[in-house]
Amino acid sequence: MKHHIKDAALAPKGKARIEWAGTQMPVLRSIAKRFAKEKPLKGLRLSACLHVTCETANLMLTLKAGGAQTLLVASNPLSTQDDISASLVKDYGIPVMAIRGEDRKTYYSHIYAALDHRPHITMDDGADIVSAIHKEPKKYLRDIVAGTEETTTGVIRLRSLEAQGKLLYPIVAVNDADTKHFFDNRYGTGQSTMDGILRATNYLVAGSTVVVCGYGWCGRGVAARARGLGAKVIVTEVSPLRALEAVMDGHQVMPVAQAARVGDIFVTVTGNIGVIRVEHFRAMKDGAVVCNSGHFDVELDLAGLRKLSPKPRIVRENVEEYRIGSKRVFVIAEGRLVNLGAAEGHPAMVMDMSFANQALSSEWVARHHDSLERKVYRVPEDIDAEIARIKLESMGVRVDRLTADQRHYLKAWEAGT
Ligand code: ADE
Repeated sequence: MKHHIKDAALAPKGKARIEWAGTQMPVLRSIAKRFAKEKPLKGLRLSACLHVTCETANLMLTLKAGGAQTLLVASNPLSTQDDISASLVKDYGIPVMAIRGEDRKTYYSHIYAALDHRPHITMDDGADIVSAIHKEPKKYLRDIVAGTEETTTGVIRLRSLEAQGKLLYPIVAVNDADTKHFFDNRYGTGQSTMDGILRATNYLVAGSTVVVCGYGWCGRGVAARARGLGAKVIVTEVSPLRALEAVMDGHQVMPVAQAARVGDIFVTVTGNIGVIRVEHFRAMKDGAVVCNSGHFDVELDLAGLRKLSPKPRIVRENVEEYRIGSKRVFVIAEGRLVNLGAAEGHPAMVMDMSFANQALSSEWVARHHDSLERKVYRVPEDIDAEIARIKLESMGVRVDRLTADQRHYLKAWEAGT
């Protein structure tokens, strides 16, 4: 079996963590049970480019139960949990090519190995597989019938391909499902980002000033959790609407240049490049902590910072100190996703819904790809609703049903004052 992992001896630890996560993923478990009976993915090769975590392992097992021949590679050089890749290979017979800390060349050699798997379905987190296919379609499009995409940044890349009329096969934007972005992006990123900052620094958040750059679903989550830990939160935005929302949520809003002078901890979650730049690093207080929770490591201008401070020093696991004159700025996880680089990523309870969307979207494209166009598709509403229903049921939460009168009232226009 094809694989490239750090150390097979890590498998027992990985297996225990995969099982632990599995206990908190009831929706995915119920899908795996049905998949094992119905085999909706039988005969299909599926290449997945995802963060290699214990939650992802449970998704891989679900897809395998459904009959897919899966191959897993990392969607970020620093997010792989080596014990998980070891266990997937050794205990579950799932090929994985991913090593935490792999360099760019190795990262891409794994992406191309995923394409050499000749997938029918691609499953991306950030669209690196899709991008590689679109650069050499003659070589790699081959058997592909459809794909899925996990994250906001990936969906933006796909919509750009679609808008230019260049998208070569149908892809489901899993990120855009309500049971994905309302929960994973907000509560998942919120908690796991603070988790990464705390594990890396052990800073006291209470009483500190946390600057959150970007107030999308992820930024809203980070700001809420930072405030929950007692921080004063400053939000920076480019969108007047989101800035207004941040103000009404009780946060201060100001430009990055102004926030740079007062922040203790900085988190970028914009999905854009060059958000914190050299002039901002220069303005920071001594001891400022800077990290990124957006998909790519482009939000902090670290190349610029290295010109200013060419010899950073590792001062703790995942923390580098940059000296700017007499001041120190600390960067976590090399500016890569702090929640996966310095912590374990989102908790299983929330990944349950994201990966239920992945599993059911794979089944949906397997059934319907013949009638799909070269477009970005939303997750069908009934799938979204079903995931919410099973999740609530698993929590023992019940909801009311509309009465006949209420159903009638909602359809009528006559009733009024
Ligand atoms: N993205 C964020 N958290 C994750 C996790 N725990 N597993 C896979 N992908 C993730």
